[in-house]
Amino acid sequence: MIYRNATIEDIPAIAELQQKYHVTTISEEDKPHGFVTTLFTDEQFQELIEKENGITIACDQDKVVAYVMAASWEYWSKWPLFQHMIGDLQHTEYKGTVLSTENSYQYGPICIDTEYRGTEVLKNIFEFSKTQMSQRYPILITFINHINPRSYAAHTQKLGLDVIKSFEFNNNNYYELGCHTSN
Ligand SMILES: CC(C)(COP(=O)(O)OP(=O)(O)OC[C@H]1O[C@@H](n2cnc3c(N)ncnc32)[C@H](O)[C@@H]1OP(=O)(O)O)[C@@H](O)C(=O)NCCC(=O)NCCS
Repeated sequence: MIYRNATIEDIPAIAELQQKYHVTTISEEDKPHGFVTTLFTDEQFQELIEKENGITIACDQDKVVAYVMAASWEYWSKWPLFQHMIGDLQHTEYKGTVLSTENSYQYGPICIDTEYRGTEVLKNIFEFSKTQMSQRYPILITFINHINPRSYAAHTQKLGLDVIKSFEFNNNNYYELGCHTSN
């Protein structure tokens, strides 16, 4: 398995994975095993790659089998859910530190193709992305829908993220989670 930063040429394969597991297009069979919420256009993928170097992918030979997004809050600020989270940072503490757009970034979505789940891909792709972002930010922040128990288990038990709080947005309940980017 190869882990690397995505380039513009990878966008069609990333878009295909997004389509397969996005909450609006996922099959009923796959949905209980997790879904992604943030929807990217090809232009938004391009901006994420060019401005933030913010997409990590896992490739099995030539096939893109997983992706992870990570970027500054400024990048995320065009989505209403993130506007809500940004406005709330000043009221949120992680291990004694009040969050800000300077000391934290937003990680996610993460998406792994079904046949590569339950493998080392989860930890490896997460670590690859986090190590890069650790040069810019000390704290990683993310959110998970309450009705995505697989992602919750993966992030709290396998990846060691801490639950900071729950919040409601657009009739959905989300956990906000975080961790330090360096040990
Ligand atoms: C979320 C995701 C990245 C996790 O990666 P993964 O490789 O599937 O994670 P793992 O299988 O190693 O760990 C998940 C754990 O949850 C458990 N689990 C599976 N389904 C579960 C469920 N419905 N409820 C609770 N736990 C569940 C698994 O058994 C596993 O624990 P175990 O290894 O101790 O048995 C992956 O499932 C995925 O891409 N899902 C689709 C997109 C998605 O949900 N992204 C996250 C958006 S926040």
